[in-house]
Amino acid sequence: VNILASDSSDSWVAAALGDLATLLVDHAHCERKAAQTALKHLAVFPDWTALAQPMSRLAREELVHHERVLKELSHRGYPMKALPSASYASELHKACRPAGSPRAGQPRSWQGPRTIDEMLCGALIEARSHERFVKLAWATDDRRLRDLYEDLLEAEARHGSLYLDLAHEVAGDEAAVAARLAEMAAHEAAVLIRRDQPVRMHAGGH
Ligand SMILES: [Fe+2]
Ligand SMILES: [Fe+2]
Repeated sequence: VNILASDSSDSWVAAALGDLATLLVDHAHCERKAAQTALKHLAVFPDWTALAQPMSRLAREELVHHERVLKELSHRGYPMKALPSASYASELHKACRPAGSPRAGQPRSWQGPRTIDEMLCGALIEARSHERFVKLAWATDDRRLRDLYEDLLEAEARHGSLYLDLAHEVAGDEAAVAARLAEMAAHEAAVLIRRDQPVRMHAGGH
């Protein structure tokens, strides 16, 4: 299911493919950050049984993606380097509600609405990556690039589902998650098209 509130624009696709060195360097950073976020979740939620195994696998997969993108950079002769962030994820997280307390019988690490929203941020980031990989694979006539994005699609879709399942577990209420997801998705769509941002996997092109 597509949880996003918007499609990526043709202008972003053109901007991204027009600066492939920057796109791929940023992509490598994205995969590394996705692994770091997963490790952070494992540290913050040690008593969340349903999170432990799949989040650990997710962290490993993101590092495999990271290595794959590093290889692509090196194949193309693009140097890996530091790149200022366009703050997509941090802007997204600004919409997270404050922490609440866990209810009786819930894992002590849960923080109510804040945890639901953090999981929804994860779901939206993964869903947006998936949507953009599909667009890039479609738009490019560079076969290696198309293969790269097609190879990563399946995992990102699965990661999105995992985060959504985790949000549902905390909320325990399908309708409440759907309503909150719609709000967060609208916020994500607005963050994505902020004007005058540098070209990044989740920014620029507007
Ligand atoms: Fe990934
Ligand atoms: Fe992912």
